Amino acid sequence: MVSVLVASNRGPVSYTLGDDGALSARRGGGGLVSGLSAVDSEDSLWVCAALGDGDREAVRRGIAEPGVRMLDIDPEVYADAYNGIANSVLWFLHHHLYAIPREPVFDAAFRRRWESYRAYNRAFAEALAAEAADGAAVLVQDYHLALVPGMLRELRPDLRIGHFTHTPWVSADYLRMAPDDVVDELLRGMLGADQLGFHTEEWAEHFLDCCEDRDLPQRRTRVRVWALGVDADELRALAHRPPVDDRLARLRDEIGETAATGERRRSIVRVDRTELSKNILRGLLAYRELLDTRPEWRDRVVHLASAYPSRQDLESYRAYTASVIELAGEINEAYGTPDWQPVLVSVEDDFVRSLAAYRLADVALVNPVRDGMNLVAKEIPVVSEEGCALVLSTGAGAHHELGADALTVDPFDVSRTAEALHEALSMPAPERAERTKRLAAAATALPPQQWFLDQLEALRGPA
Ligand code: G6P
Repeated sequence: MVSVLVASNRGPVSYTLGDDGALSARRGGGGLVSGLSAVDSEDSLWVCAALGDGDREAVRRGIAEPGVRMLDIDPEVYADAYNGIANSVLWFLHHHLYAIPREPVFDAAFRRRWESYRAYNRAFAEALAAEAADGAAVLVQDYHLALVPGMLRELRPDLRIGHFTHTPWVSADYLRMAPDDVVDELLRGMLGADQLGFHTEEWAEHFLDCCEDRDLPQRRTRVRVWALGVDADELRALAHRPPVDDRLARLRDEIGETAATGERRRSIVRVDRTELSKNILRGLLAYRELLDTRPEWRDRVVHLASAYPSRQDLESYRAYTASVIELAGEINEAYGTPDWQPVLVSVEDDFVRSLAAYRLADVALVNPVRDGMNLVAKEIPVVSEEGCALVLSTGAGAHHELGADALTVDPFDVSRTAEALHEALSMPAPERAERTKRLAAAATALPPQQWFLDQLEALRGPA
């Protein structure tokens, strides 16, 4: 029995099964990992799902990291809940991603998947109920587990239950597409919590709007904003390890120098999962327009795009990844020369390369159509060595904190984005340095440990 519990779909560790039957563990990073490290590990537990065969095998063999409990949920139920509902319905709603002429479809297949989503949430609620000490604090994460607060409250009314949403929250208008009973169940699930956290006021207000004029349970749930930031010391230490130094040297070589002048070429850096909401394609279109309308930048700039595959079980994500690679290829074909490749795309989940790219970034491009926070926009200014100009879309949650010192773009306005890239590349070095300093200060205002402890304290405080 422990007094602090965290629940999320993806846990802090994952296992892969080798051909020889051996399991190897891979530890992940991220805000929640640093956040939870702020509490006594003997008295805390992280409940997460076994995501693949390696994880499931680890559960079967009884292998577990201290302080982590993986739930081995039936693979079909899991796939329907994770791919079928969380990533194909809830993610699409919260990010307003549907291509309306064809989607969404709420049919019998949806209803079956929704059953699985319930079962998957129930598995978490039951595990948490079994592990939590009297009056323990439970911090449930994200849209995968929206029903857990309600279910857990029924099982254990003594617990303090918090939920944090890392994505945007859908607008009330957009949510009207979903069947009424499903919306009701979703909101009731969330409102089982004592406390709901969001990254921005905007998402919190959307949640409250969605609850308006509905017949919902009469109990008190506090809705609050904790804008997750980055830990500057930790990030800079990671970015200055020897493998990153080596990668940086190689990247500098790849970027090279302008043939005519011998000047070091500038870099426009972006790092994302190949995620439909990240707007990578319009970013590439803007870069193409920049090269087209501002020929003075040809041979003087390189676009370093890390777009590592994500959720490849979903056809729309596979197609998106392929389109990103294709468009980057077209740009290279159209503008490249024997010694200048305009776009360098990496489709590997290569954190070392990303950190090296952060360090040399002259310009950072972060242009999501809609994003809960977007930590890349916060990480690059902290790590960049010579100061970087940030081109940031209004769709990113981070825009609320960073907008004043970024070059703001509408995510759909490709021409404006091209112009902003030009302004960013042309920004005088002292101005860039000044802005970067202010961006880094805003980005580190609420580092992960504090973000976590503040939520915990609020949850344990008077109701
Ligand atoms: C977003 C979500 C997280 C999720 C991450 C990666 O940031 O808010 O909950 O873990 O994307 O997505 P994945 O489906 O690979 O876990």
